This record gives sequence, structure tokens and C-alpha cells, in this order.
Amino acid sequence: MTYTIGIIGPGQIGVTLATIWGEAGHNIILGSREPAKAETIASELGNNMQGMGIAETAEAADILLFSFPWYALIDVQREIGKCEGKIIIDCINPITSSGSLALGHKWSAGEEIAREFPLAHVIKAFNHIYVEHFKNPVFDGKPATAYYCSNSDKAKQIVANLAAEMGFDPVDIGPIKHARYLEPLALLWIQMAFHMGNGPEFTFKLLER
Ligand SMILES: NC(=O)c1ccc[n+]([C@@H]2O[C@H](COP(=O)([O-])OP(=O)(O)OC[C@H]3O[C@@H](n4cnc5c(N)ncnc54)[C@H](OP(=O)(O)O)[C@@H]3O)[C@@H](O)[C@H]2O)c1
Repeated sequence: MTYTIGIIGPGQIGVTLATIWGEAGHNIILGSREPAKAETIASELGNNMQGMGIAETAEAADILLFSFPWYALIDVQREIGKCEGKIIIDCINPITSSGSLALGHKWSAGEEIAREFPLAHVIKAFNHIYVEHFKNPVFDGKPATAYYCSNSDKAKQIVANLAAEMGFDPVDIGPIKHARYLEPLALLWIQMAFHMGNGPEFTFKLLER
């Protein structure tokens, strides 16, 4: 299945996923506040990628990756309208400038985005995966777990396909409400990697029996 995916926020995560998904044959549009910059990156990446403004990207793509900082949601919202019927993949961690979660426990960025875009299919995914791991999600011969949660079966199917195609083990963790548990997991990873001296060469893996 080939998708048309608009990347809103072509930074580290956005460009990394654009590269991988473009190489896999998906149609990629980079959506930036600076369309000329997006065009340049797109032409450098190849694979018929396009670069545009944020509003144009949201209009043109069926699937949108939200890969911008949490504080930018209000700016992006002004540009992109209701996104009716579109899939929104939210990989945002709502991190403050001091490195803690801006919200959590009883609410999450995923739930906030689902509330703000009630006509879209919002899914929380990929937020707990370190940018460098997308290119090679295999650890000691085992695929990293890619957890996702959403109220939309359609969004879950698409994210499961994309994650499996990249080499992850996709795991459905239920409704979008569970983003309030998935966002702290990313913070745990950051603490372990960068504040406890473990470094980034580890990931989370669901073991079952
Ligand atoms: N880095 C990771 O390992 C990682 C892992 C999982 C999840 N995440 C999450 O992914 C998101 C992006 O992280 P990143 O590391 O890729 O950050 P980044 O490299 O700083 O890229 C963020 C992008 O967001 C866009 N942006 C910034 N302010 C904006 C605004 N006011 N309005 C619209 N767009 C704006 C920028 O694109 P333009 O300037 O082109 O508009 C920028 O390229 C964050 O929410 C982060 O928590 C990151």
C-alpha cells in the first residue's frame, strides 16, 4: 500500500521519517513555515519528494505526521483547518524548556490533538523512538516495539503497516487516552539515555508468553 504523507515539521524526526518512507515508495510532502527550505530539502532527498507550505501540505496529503514542538501546535492549527477524514500521526512529546512533561497523568498531547481535530483520525505513535533508531530498529536481532494508540482502527492499520515496513514490532496499546502513559515512556527513555549515562543504544521491547 502506498500512502501520501505530509510531514508537518521537517526537522530531525520529520526528515528522517520522510527519507525512510520516501525510499519505501510512499509519496512524501515536506510542509514547512519556509516553503523554499522545504523544496530544497525535498529535492536533496529525491524520491519525487515535494516541499510546500504547511497549509498546502495539509491539503495535499491523506496522512499527516505532526513532527513539530508541542508549543507550536497553536501555530500549526491556524494553518491547517479541521483535517476532516485525514490521518494525523502525532509523535510529539510535550516537553517543557526544563525537560519535564508540560502535561500528563490525567491528560496528554495525544488527547489534546484528538480533541482539537475531532474530524481527523488521530494516532499517537513513534514518540518513544529515538530519531537515530528509525533507520535500524533491530537490537540484538530483535525488533524494537513501536507502541501506538488511537480511537481509529483505520489509523491503527496504517501505522501498523508503516511500523512493520520499517522493521519495528508494532503493538496496539488501545485508545488515544493511553497517550498519557506513552508520553511519559518517552521521557523515561530520555532520562535513561541522556541523564543516567546509559547512552542512546537501547530501546523498549514488549516480551510476551
Ligand atoms: N528527536 C527525537 O529523537 C524525537 C523522538 C520522538 C519524538 N520527537 C518529537 O518530535 C517533534 C520534533 O522533534 P525534532 O527532534 O525533530 O525537532 P526539530 O529538529 O527541532 O524539528 C522541529 C520542526 O518543527 C517545525 N516547527 C518549529 N516551530 C514551529 C512552529 N511554531 N510552527 C510550525 N512548525 C514549527 C520546524 O520546521 P520549519 O522550521 O521548517 O517550519 C522544525 O523543523 C517534537 O515534538 C519531539 O518531542 C523527537
